[in-house]
Amino acid sequence: MDFSTGNAVITGGASGIGLGLAHKLAEEGMTIIIVDVEEGALQDAVNELVEKGYSAHGRICDVSDRNQVEELAKGVFAEFGAVHFLANNAGVVTRHKSWGDLDDWDWVLGVDLMGVIYGVHSFLPRMLESGENGHVMNTASTAGLLAFPSIGSYNVAKRGVVALTETLHHELEGTAITASVLCPGMVDTKIHWSERNRKDASAPKEMASAGVGNKEELSPAEVANIVVESIQNGIFWILPHAHYGEQALEQAERRIAGGPPVLPFVNR
Ligand SMILES: NC(=O)c1ccc[n+]([C@@H]2O[C@H](COP(=O)([O-])OP(=O)(O)OC[C@H]3O[C@@H](n4cnc5c(N)ncnc54)[C@H](O)[C@@H]3O)[C@@H](O)[C@H]2O)c1
Repeated sequence: MDFSTGNAVITGGASGIGLGLAHKLAEEGMTIIIVDVEEGALQDAVNELVEKGYSAHGRICDVSDRNQVEELAKGVFAEFGAVHFLANNAGVVTRHKSWGDLDDWDWVLGVDLMGVIYGVHSFLPRMLESGENGHVMNTASTAGLLAFPSIGSYNVAKRGVVALTETLHHELEGTAITASVLCPGMVDTKIHWSERNRKDASAPKEMASAGVGNKEELSPAEVANIVVESIQNGIFWILPHAHYGEQALEQAERRIAGGPPVLPFVNR
């Protein structure tokens, strides 16, 4: 993947990991198209990049709406000609019991899983058709490898993203497009305040377990550096926090032995 030229589409790029990636890819030389639902943050993010002299554009789109994602892809290809890097990165999380509120399930699966599926569905055929080299990076989580209690919808969505990206890897063999899946642990972002973008939420609530000050917490810039270096080295599983890889290995051993599942730990 050549990051020194071409167009990068980053969903959820107005904040956190997506914004860190936008800055890194702009520095590398790509034209950035940030996609987000949060209008003010999106405008600020684009302005910040443009003020630094980079080529950056913003598009409002709710990735959980298949029609909006299709319109987005159509518009981006019409305006920019091709997409060389797609980060299906937008994501939200909320706390609930697995037998809890179905609105929580709908919201999280809609953004975190269907949003990625819609991104792949609308962008990938056009990327393949362009004949140009490209890369699709889907943002999952360590929750895509191990199940954390009280965030069942997030675990299910992220494991789905991991499965989808593994499938893509096989299906894209022999084409000009490659795929990778990002599985971070704690990163210093606004993820713990996801409800700010929730249409059906009466009052935004901050999650109690925000990782602020956590020992394992990385900055979005650190994650963005790891992403670019990993993709340049042909790495499929991008795991910025190595100790989750060790826990995933233990999980694999326990699967063969019959269980029980690993209760993942955060490196505090
Ligand atoms: N922060 C962490 O510790 C962590 C760990 C593992 C994985 N992740 C994943 O990283 C990704 C980025 O999250 P972040 O931590 O940077 O959080 P963040 O809240 O800072 O950024 C997420 C962005 O997604 C946008 N967004 C939310 N719903 C959207 C929708 N329906 N359509 C379009 N955009 C939408 C938000 O407006 C926001 O700009 C997510 O997929 C998240 O699950 C985060």
